[in-house]
Amino acid sequence: MGPVRLALLLLAAAAAVLLGGGEAVYIPYNTSAGVVNGKLNVHVVPHTHDDVGWLKTVDQYYVGSNNSIQGACVQNVLDSLVPALLKDENRKFIYVEQAFFQRWWRQQSDMIKDTVKGLVSSGRLEFINGGMCMHDEATVHYIDMIDQTTLGHRFIKEEFGQIPRIGWQIDPFGHSAVQAYLLGAEVGFDALYFFRIDYQDRDTRNGTKELEVVWRGSKTFGSSADIFAGIFPKNYEPPPGEFYFEVDDTSPVVQDDPLLFDYNVEQRVNDFVAAALAQANVTRTNHIMFTMGTDFKYQYAESWFRQMDKLIHYVNKDGRVNALYSTPSIYTDAKFSTNEPWPLKTNDFFPYADNPNAYWTGYFTSRPALKRYVRMMSGYYLAARQLEFFIGKSKSGSTTDSLGDALALAQHHDAVTGTEKQHVANDYAKRLSIGYKKVSSRENCCISYLMISFEI
Ligand SMILES: *[C@@H]1O[C@H](CO)[C@@H](O)[C@H](O)[C@H]1NC(C)=O
Ligand SMILES: *[C@@H]1O[C@H](CO)[C@@H](O)[C@H](O)[C@H]1NC(C)=O
Ligand SMILES: *[C@@H]1O[C@H](CO)[C@@H](O)[C@H](O)[C@H]1NC(C)=O
Ligand SMILES: *[C@@H]1O[C@H](CO)[C@@H](O)[C@H](O)[C@H]1NC(C)=O
Ligand SMILES: [Zn+2]
Repeated sequence: MGPVRLALLLLAAAAAVLLGGGEAVYIPYNTSAGVVNGKLNVHVVPHTHDDVGWLKTVDQYYVGSNNSIQGACVQNVLDSLVPALLKDENRKFIYVEQAFFQRWWRQQSDMIKDTVKGLVSSGRLEFINGGMCMHDEATVHYIDMIDQTTLGHRFIKEEFGQIPRIGWQIDPFGHSAVQAYLLGAEVGFDALYFFRIDYQDRDTRNGTKELEVVWRGSKTFGSSADIFAGIFPKNYEPPPGEFYFEVDDTSPVVQDDPLLFDYNVEQRVNDFVAAALAQANVTRTNHIMFTMGTDFKYQYAESWFRQMDKLIHYVNKDGRVNALYSTPSIYTDAKFSTNEPWPLKTNDFFPYADNPNAYWTGYFTSRPALKRYVRMMSGYYLAARQLEFFIGKSKSGSTTDSLGDALALAQHHDAVTGTEKQHVANDYAKRLSIGYKKVSSRENCCISYLMISFEI
C-alpha cells in the first residue's frame, strides 16, 4: 500500500471515529502468524482444484465458455489471484495444474510476469505437484506419468528456477504404490497428499490416528524410497462448519463491523475452533491442515482471502488455537520438525470405495477405445521422440511437442479414466490425432521415414 493511500485510509478512519461515535472502522487484520510451539497450529492452505477437462474441455474451463454446463473459468482464478496476493504479504496460495497455468502465463505482460515471479520467489505463490495435470494412478502407464510431470516441472524450472517439493494427488480415484515410489520419492517430493482411500480404511485410520503415514512404495528399495503421505480426514474442501467463501456460496461471512447488523465474530471464531479441535482429535502432533478451497474456486480470489484474513485475525486474538496462512510445504516442514514417528504403509490404496457398494472400479475399463488410443500414442511418442533426438528437432514446427502435450492432458484423472463427458473425450482424442499427424506428416519426413523403416 502506498503512503498516500495509507494516509487517506487513516484519515477516513479518523473521520469515521468522529462521525460514528467512537467506533473504529478500519481494522488492520493481523495475518502475520507463523507456527507457535505449544499451541494447536491450524495451517490454512488456500487452493483451487482445476480439472484439466471433465464436464467441459480444458480450453472451455480455461476461458470460461459454456458456463451453462458448469460455471468455471480458470482465467478468472489466475487473474484475480495476483491482486489478492499483493494486498497482504502474508496471504499464500498454491497452484497445481500447469496446463492451465501455462495457458495463462503466455498471455501475460512482462509486468505481470515480473510480479508473479516475485510472488513465487517470496513463497506467497507456490507450485505444488507441478505436472501438466493431476494424473490418474490406475489406468495410466508409468512412463506417461513421468512424461507429463516432466513437462510441467521443466516449465517451472525454466521460468521460475524452482522444483515443486510436494505431491498433491487430491482427487484421483485411489492411489498406487508406483506413485509413492516413482512419482513421490524418486521425483524428490518431501510429501504426498490425497484423500480418496477406502471408506473402511479411512474410518480405521481416523480412530487410530493413522491418516498420516510413511509410505513405502517399493519392496526393492525399501526405506530409501519412503515418503511422508498425508490423507485428509474428510475431503480436500474446507472443514465441516461452513467455511466456503466463493461469491455465490452460502456460508456465513465474518461480519465484524459493529455499525452494521448481524455482528457474528464470536460465533464464527467458535465454529473455527470447534472444527480445529475435531480435526486435531484424529491427527498426530499439534499441526493440522485446513484445505481452503475446492473445484474451480477463487474465481474472485478476494472473496476467500477477505474471510480468511478475518478468521486468522480473530481466532488468534481469541488464542485457543493458532491459525496461520500456510502451504503444504510449510505444513510438511512443521510435521518433520516434531520428530514424531509415523506408522508405516506398504502397497496400494486400491480399489477405492467411498461407501458400501460404491466401488470406483468401473473406470479401470470404461472408454476402452480412448484407453487404447492413449496407450498406442504413448508407445508411438516414445519411439518418435528417440528418433527426433538422433535427427535433431525440426524447426518447421512439426515436432513431437504437440503429441507430448496431448498425451500429458490425456493422463488427467478425468481423461484416460473415462469419467469425462463424451464431448470432452472427443477433445482428448482430437488433440492426440493432431499431435500424431504433426509427427507423421510429410514435413516431418525424417521421423516418418524412420518410423516406416523401423516398422513402427
Ligand atoms: C500479530 O500477530 C503476531 C502473531 O500472531 C504477533 O506476534 C504480533 O505481535 C501481532 N502484531 C500486532 C501488531 O498485533
Ligand atoms: C459450447 O458452446 C459453443 C458456443 O458457445 C457451442 O457451439 C457448443 O455446442 C457448446 N458445447 C457444448 C458441449 O455444449
Ligand atoms: C473422524 O473422527 C472425527 C472425530 O472423532 C469425526 O468427527 C469424523 O466424522 C471422523 N471422520 C471419518 C471420515 O470417519
Ligand atoms: C475427541 O475424541 C473423543 C474420543 O473419541 C471424543 O469423546 C471427543 O468428543 C472428541 N472431541 C472433539 C472435539 O471432537
Ligand atoms: Zn478432479
